[in-house]
Amino acid sequence: MSTVDNRLDMERPAKMPEPSLRGDIIDADRYISKDYYEKEWRRVWMRTWQIGGLSYHMPEPGDYVNTTLGRESILMVRQENGSVRAFFNVCQHRGARLTFADEGCATDGFTCPYHGWNWGTDGLLKAMPDADDFPGGSQLGKLGLIDMPCEEFAGFVWFNMDPNAIPLREALGSSGDEIEGYRMENMVRVLALTADANCNWKVITDNFNEGYHVQVLHPELAPYIETVFSECQFDLRENGTNSGWFPSHRPTASYKGDEPPADVAAMMEKWELNPADYQGNARMKQIRLDIQQQKRRIGPSKGYHHYAHLKDYQLTDYVIYNIFPNNVITVGPDGVQLLRPRPHPTDPQKCEFDHWYFVPHIDGVTTVPSPAGGPDLPFEDAPVDHFRYGEKTLGRTNDQDLSIAENQQLGFNSAGYQGANLTNQERRVQHFHDTLNDYIEGRK
Ligand code: FES
Ligand SMILES: [Fe+2]
Repeated sequence: MSTVDNRLDMERPAKMPEPSLRGDIIDADRYISKDYYEKEWRRVWMRTWQIGGLSYHMPEPGDYVNTTLGRESILMVRQENGSVRAFFNVCQHRGARLTFADEGCATDGFTCPYHGWNWGTDGLLKAMPDADDFPGGSQLGKLGLIDMPCEEFAGFVWFNMDPNAIPLREALGSSGDEIEGYRMENMVRVLALTADANCNWKVITDNFNEGYHVQVLHPELAPYIETVFSECQFDLRENGTNSGWFPSHRPTASYKGDEPPADVAAMMEKWELNPADYQGNARMKQIRLDIQQQKRRIGPSKGYHHYAHLKDYQLTDYVIYNIFPNNVITVGPDGVQLLRPRPHPTDPQKCEFDHWYFVPHIDGVTTVPSPAGGPDLPFEDAPVDHFRYGEKTLGRTNDQDLSIAENQQLGFNSAGYQGANLTNQERRVQHFHDTLNDYIEGRK
């Protein structure tokens, strides 16, 4: 697990030891080839933990959520004993899908639309027409849907199609320990966008595995999120997972002004600090720490009770966890984003990109600023809005990222692309691809 440097522990995530990287070539095949896609399906997607849905969407026994991952449809069902089980959504008679609903309550189990076989919420065959008409006698209570490991963590239901998967928390490693502190199970998903994109899913995870592009592609973030890489911290974690820590609530180190920029000044005023008291570079560095202190001091009286379980750095900073292979979880003081590409059912040059936003309850707060821009979002569960990238906005930052993702996909189809040439600050990208190769080449 993590090597904790106690001097830094309250200021930033504990620094992980740096593993040495092989530096494998990041070739074009992995982004465009059908053969690679098939190998990846079997060796990566069938063997890694995936987020299937939200625990609070299935509170009662019989409640279920149905999710898709590539070619698969997975049913996750709340059991009588409160646990959740996951099944392939495939009838064991002759292969029909049992349901196409995204979620619901299966009080009477799942009845196949073809010949009417009825499967209980525990996956066992409960009823069927002509039950005795089998050569070897009735299969009721014997035959079952094919299940898979399923666990709940951080408000999500997770599944893994590998029957021999290591437990979820072991797979998440130190990232899970840090994410747990945000108590996502108490949060509400106030935004759920899904966009079809013309790029391989890894083009998107690569993008979230480096902050190098931020200064060029997202200059508007610089006033309040650190964009100078030497001021940030990047960690290569267990099982191909990475993280990046970005101090915030102070001007970036490259900021040239003498007084706090408008975005930072607004944050200061919200926390009852006077921007006029913070002139000059040395004073401005202090803003982040003083906001942390103010949040501790007056946060509870303003209804921000969730600050009580956050560490000091978590009160101001953003950390991005790239959980291998595709779950990108960005945590901030007042909300958590899931930024997740999922593979297309057949085409390696396409994917779906999910942008979900979770916020904690804050006393008296009925709307929250949207990370996708536009009007504030009501503090209530948001249904999924699915569209083609470009038809609607995913938020300025995501739109910027996806414009480059589709651009890069064109480049990967060119004979002129001969592998990436990475800077050191992009080593999380290399770590991801070295791990991917471990899976593809059978070392994991
Ligand atoms: S395929 Fe499901 S009952 Fe026949
Ligand atoms: Fe970006």
